[in-house]
Amino acid sequence: MHTPGTLTVSLPRLRRGGRGHGAVGSSRGLPLRSNDMIGAGGRATSGRGLADRLGGLAFGGDYNPEQWDEEVWAEDDELMRRARVNLATVGVFSWALLEPEEGRYEFGWLDEHLDRLHANGVAVDLATPTASPPPWFTLAHPDALPVTPDGARLTHGSRDTYCLAAPAYRAAARGIADALARRYGDHPAVALWHVHNEYATLCWCDHTAEAFRGWLRHKYRALHALNDAWGTAFWSQRYHDWDQIMPPRATQWHHNPGQTLDFRRFFSDLALQAYRDQRNAIRAHSDRPVTTNLMLPGYQNLDLWAFGREVDVVAVDHYPAAPGVDAAADTAFGGDRARSFGGGRPWLLMEQGTNTVYAGDRTLAKEPGEILRHSLSHIAHGSDGALFFQWRQSKAGAETWHSAMVPHAGPDSRIFREVTELGAVVDRLREVAGSTVTAQVAVLHDADAWWALNVESMPSSALDYHTTLKRAHRALWDAGVVTDFAHPEHELDRYRLVVAPALFLLSDAGAENLRRYVEGGGTLLVQHFAGAVDERLHARLGGYPAPALREALGIRVEELRPLRRDEKITLSDGTRAAEWSESVQLAGAEAVASYTHGMLAGRPALTRHRFGAGHGWYLSTVPDPEDHTALVHRLLAEVGVVSAWPPGVEAVTRGRLLFLLNHGADTVPLPRPAHDLVTDRVVADVPPGGCAVLRTDEGA
Ligand code: GAL
Repeated sequence: MHTPGTLTVSLPRLRRGGRGHGAVGSSRGLPLRSNDMIGAGGRATSGRGLADRLGGLAFGGDYNPEQWDEEVWAEDDELMRRARVNLATVGVFSWALLEPEEGRYEFGWLDEHLDRLHANGVAVDLATPTASPPPWFTLAHPDALPVTPDGARLTHGSRDTYCLAAPAYRAAARGIADALARRYGDHPAVALWHVHNEYATLCWCDHTAEAFRGWLRHKYRALHALNDAWGTAFWSQRYHDWDQIMPPRATQWHHNPGQTLDFRRFFSDLALQAYRDQRNAIRAHSDRPVTTNLMLPGYQNLDLWAFGREVDVVAVDHYPAAPGVDAAADTAFGGDRARSFGGGRPWLLMEQGTNTVYAGDRTLAKEPGEILRHSLSHIAHGSDGALFFQWRQSKAGAETWHSAMVPHAGPDSRIFREVTELGAVVDRLREVAGSTVTAQVAVLHDADAWWALNVESMPSSALDYHTTLKRAHRALWDAGVVTDFAHPEHELDRYRLVVAPALFLLSDAGAENLRRYVEGGGTLLVQHFAGAVDERLHARLGGYPAPALREALGIRVEELRPLRRDEKITLSDGTRAAEWSESVQLAGAEAVASYTHGMLAGRPALTRHRFGAGHGWYLSTVPDPEDHTALVHRLLAEVGVVSAWPPGVEAVTRGRLLFLLNHGADTVPLPRPAHDLVTDRVVADVPPGGCAVLRTDEGA
C-alpha cells in the first residue's frame, strides 16, 4: 500500500516505481467563485443513472484507440463483443490529440470512435483529459507546471504535470471540458462523464501560495486567529501580514503542524473546486452522470467524504498492494470505503488490473481465478460493475508492462479467457445493479485525523494512519463481517459496534457524538492515541482523550509511552503487543487486561466502561493481528454480530444476492444445494479459492 510521506519530501510523491503525484478537497475554507455555485452540491443529474443506461452492471475498461490502427480497432470490436464489454472509458490522456494547439480542436477521430463503439453496443465513459496537459500548453504557460517543496519546477514528459491553482491551467481545463460537453453532451454513446484522472498533483508554487492565503483568510478572517490556531508563539513564527504566509515549502526542520494540516485541507478543497469547475461545465450541456476516479486507499490526499458528496457516482481505482489473501482483504477494504464515501449508494470500480499486484519494488502477477474473485468482491461490496485499466496492453510508452484485458499475447491467452468468462458472469449478475449492502459495524475514518497524524514531530514514526485503519478493518474482515466506514460526526446509531482506530485528531463535536453513541447503547472500541488533539491540532489538556470521550470510556490517559523499535510486550491476558503503550487511569472503567512490563506493570492496557446503555472500550496498545482479531471477535459476539460461515469465507449480502468468496483451504458445504450465478448451475459447496453467488430468496 502506498503510504503518504511528509509534506517536506513528498513531491514527487513516489509510488509504484516513482510516478509523481500529490493531492487534495472539502469546502471548509476556499473562497468560492461564481461558477462553483452552479449546481454545486447537487448529487444527481436530471438524467438516468449508469446502471439504468447500461441495463445492468458495467464491464470494460479504459480504451485508448489512439494507440492503435484500424486493423486493431476491428479486432477490438470483435473481442469486446466476445467479452461482453458494455462500457469503455475513452479520452483520459487525449488532450494533445484533441487540442493540438490552443483553442483548435480536432474531434473527428473521437467522433469516429464514439460512433463505432456505439454501433458495437459499447457505451462510453467520456473523460476530460486534464490530468495530462499537452507539451504546447506547458511551454506557453510554464507557471502552470507544479513546483516541489524545495522549489524545483517540474516539466512535461510524464503526466499529471499541472498546478491546480494556476489560472491558465484551470481556464484550459474548463475550456476542454466545455468543448467536449458541447460536442458530446447528448451523444447516444455517452453514459458517464469521467472528469480528470485521480486528482491531484500537489504544488508549492507562487499561485498555490496565493490561493492558500486566500483560503486561510476565508477560514480565519483575522490574522490573530490563524496565529492562535497555528501556535505561532512557538519558534518566533508570528505572522504580522497575510503575505508573510507560505505553503509549507522546504525549511530547516519541522514545519509548523497547523500550517501543514491546513495545507492539506486547502489542497483537498482546491482539488474539489477544480472538479466542480469541470462538472459544472459538463452539466451545462449534458444530463449524463459525472464522476472522477478516486484512488484508494492512501494514495491521494483528498477528503473523500467531500468528494463523495459531489460526484453523481463514487468511482474508485483499486490495485492491491500484496498478493493472496492480503489482496482479498485489501479489495474488501477498498470496496467498503468506496461504498461508504457515497453514503451507501452503489459505486463503480473504475480501474483494476487483470494481472497487476503492486508489491513494493515489483509488480506481481495474479493467480488464475483472482480476476473473478477480486471483481466479485468489488461487486459484492457495492460496485455497479467491474472495469479495468486498460482494454488493450500498450505496446509502447511508460505503461507497456501494465496488464490489460487483452494482453500483448493477444486473445489466445489465459488473461483474455478469464476476462471473457468474467464478462459472462457480470452479465448474469445484472439484477444486483442498483442494490445496496447493509453493515452493522463501522470503522471511523476522518481525513483530518489522517493528515494530523502525518505531520512531522510525532512521538513515533509507527503511527501510520492507513496501516492502523487497515488493521482495524482487517480484524473485522477476518472475523467475517461486512464493515462500513463512517465519519466521527456521522449518525452512528444503526451500528452495533463502532471501531475508532488512529483517531488522533477529534473535534469536540466528534467526541460528543461518540459519547452519545455509547450512552444510547452502542459499543465503541477506541484505539491508542485517540482524541489527543482538537481540530486545530492543540493538545487536550488535563489528560487525553477529548473530555466527552473520556467520559464515555471512563478513563484518563496521563502519559504516552511509545515502545522501542522491535520491543514486544505481553499483557496480563496473554495478548501480544508492540509499538505503543500509555499510562491509563481508570475513571469508572474496569481493566480487562493490564500491562506487565516496566513502570506500567499492573496498569490498565485494555479497558471497558459501562456507560449509559452502551460500552466504551479503550485499547491503549497495538496487539498482534491474531490477538487483535480475537478481541474484535469477542466484541462482535457481545453485540451479537457473528458470521454464520467458517473462517476464510467472505459472505456479503447485496440486495437479494448472497456472495460467497472462499479464501480458505477447505471446501465449504452450502446448507442446501442452490443455483449459483457464477457457474450457472446448482452447486452444493464452494471449493477453496472458489466463489458462488446465490439468490437469498431461492433458499440460500
Ligand atoms: C491508475 C491510473 C491509470 C494507470 C493505472 C496503472 O492509477 O489512473 O492511468 O496509470 O493506474 O495502474
